[in-house]
Amino acid sequence: MIWIVLLMAQAAVPSQTERGQALFLDAQQGCGNCHALKGKGNAVGPDLTGIGHLGPQAIAMAARSTVTQYVQVVKLKAGGSFPGMPGKKDDKTAVWFDLSKNPPEKKELTPADIASVGGNDVWKHPPAANKISSEQLADIVAYIKYASTGSKKAVDPADVQ
Ligand code: HEC
Repeated sequence: MIWIVLLMAQAAVPSQTERGQALFLDAQQGCGNCHALKGKGNAVGPDLTGIGHLGPQAIAMAARSTVTQYVQVVKLKAGGSFPGMPGKKDDKTAVWFDLSKNPPEKKELTPADIASVGGNDVWKHPPAANKISSEQLADIVAYIKYASTGSKKAVDPADVQ
């Protein structure tokens, strides 16, 4: 009978990918507030499905990076400014996601609303700003790899430092 108890105890402990999924989709701090991954999460920043084939170190470095490529500071004619991730645009309106809010707030602006768009020197990517632990990042990277490639290979915290 003891083996039943042992099996049950084992089943109750979440696997690394399960822990990573919970962190990824966490409503307060989760990556899913801003990233889509295999159809889950908000498509504000880059879709992370494509980076799942990279090694754990490369994914962790991209997440911890303090350099931004797409985010820009949008100054409004009505006054005020916000760090924004550009979304879809057509002739009349442009979508901007206001990253000063988490989850980011979607704004539809016309050229007449915008005074200027310039380089980002105010917004930091949350995993860089909040100093995420290597244990947590290893769990998240394991989940990203699992969701996009199906690989259940464990990710060692030492590999994502
Ligand atoms: C508040 C929104 C937000 C949250 C939360 C967030 N990110 Fe991001 N992330 C972004 C934006 C925006 C970019 C693009 C930045 C740029 O280059 O301008 C980005 C870029 C990235 C990149 C680089 C992707 C590429 O193709 O260049 C990775 C990897 C990444 N994030 C992983 C994560 C992980 C892992 C988490 C959770 C621990 C996370 N992000 C949480 C908004 C967010």
